[in-house]
Amino acid sequence: MFCRVGISSFRRVALARSLSSTARQNMKVAVLGASGGIGQPLSMLFKQSPLISELSLYDIVLTPGVAADLSHIETPAQVKGYLEDGLDEALQGCDIVVIPAGVPRKPGMTRDDLFNTNATIVQKLSEAAAKNCPKAMLCIITNPVNSTMPIASEVYKKAGVYDPKRIFGVTTLDSVRANTFVAEAKGLDVRDVEVPVIGGHSGVTILPLLSQTNPSVKFTQEELEQLTDRIQNAGTEVVNAKAGAGSATLSMAYAGARFVFSLIGAMKGQSKNVVECTFVRSDVTEAPYFATEVQLGPNGAEVVKGMGELSDFEKEKLKEVLPELLKNIAKGDSFVNK
Ligand code: APR
Repeated sequence: MFCRVGISSFRRVALARSLSSTARQNMKVAVLGASGGIGQPLSMLFKQSPLISELSLYDIVLTPGVAADLSHIETPAQVKGYLEDGLDEALQGCDIVVIPAGVPRKPGMTRDDLFNTNATIVQKLSEAAAKNCPKAMLCIITNPVNSTMPIASEVYKKAGVYDPKRIFGVTTLDSVRANTFVAEAKGLDVRDVEVPVIGGHSGVTILPLLSQTNPSVKFTQEELEQLTDRIQNAGTEVVNAKAGAGSATLSMAYAGARFVFSLIGAMKGQSKNVVECTFVRSDVTEAPYFATEVQLGPNGAEVVKGMGELSDFEKEKLKEVLPELLKNIAKGDSFVNK
């Protein structure tokens, strides 16, 4: 249970602490795709944090403006914007690289429909990260994460710099949504609720472990089915509500920042027992990459935890996760190795 305390206590204090303490850190963070719907609010959350001393903003458009704008905020982080040919410079000396660059979904599209465009973008950006800051933690937000994180891993293998502990698919938004929906359904204070979500980051591959909700909560079969379905399709809820104007951006930025603040706390040894669910290299199932709770530390993914005891409902759902996830991973692998 200590790990859950780690998650929720960190989550409760992360933003408040990052706004109130003085600069003690020397973290250089790059955001690749910084001018986008996710990139801009994510960069603003990073700029608010004294845990970050340098912020490198890279995009193919608009970064001089975004960087100038953010640089006026009265926090210590130094912000620089880079365009097209500034990619190598943007990445030099980075401790953490976050990639939200890509095209978002429109109504009727699945995350897999984004594959060709976003795969090419992630391949190019991770090649540059592997070249310029191979030891940096690489956090992939660009969808379909089930395939783009394997793409980045294959790129690092080809470059001879692969360290499985340092490459993450950011799946935090699935837990964030699960926490919100469970708290709403059960009348709980959302700040106290933590639901592990395992598997992948798309449709049926998203498996919320409602039986492991902390604090312990009892659900009827109908609630289990409705909540699981809503968590798996929450991204589509946003895509439809935005009616063609894109996918989740603000909640994704929040979730990306939560993950990166957890990672920084763990890297600096400031926070012990930091645990987040994230999509990493894994031996937990037959899938080579799988999201479970992962204990983060100075070297990244220190301990990939197991799934814990699954309910019968979750065991059945897991049967749907693996074939789809294996297909998504194979698609990413073969994109790089074609
Ligand atoms: N290098 C850097 N930035 C790029 C590149 C590239 N090769 N190609 C596109 N971008 C930038 C765009 O210029 C834009 O600023 O990525 C940004 C994407 O922003 P949006 O179009 O607003 O999309 P967003 O909603 O932020 O989603 C981006 O994240 O969750 C995923 O599914 C989502 O894959 C999508 C991605």
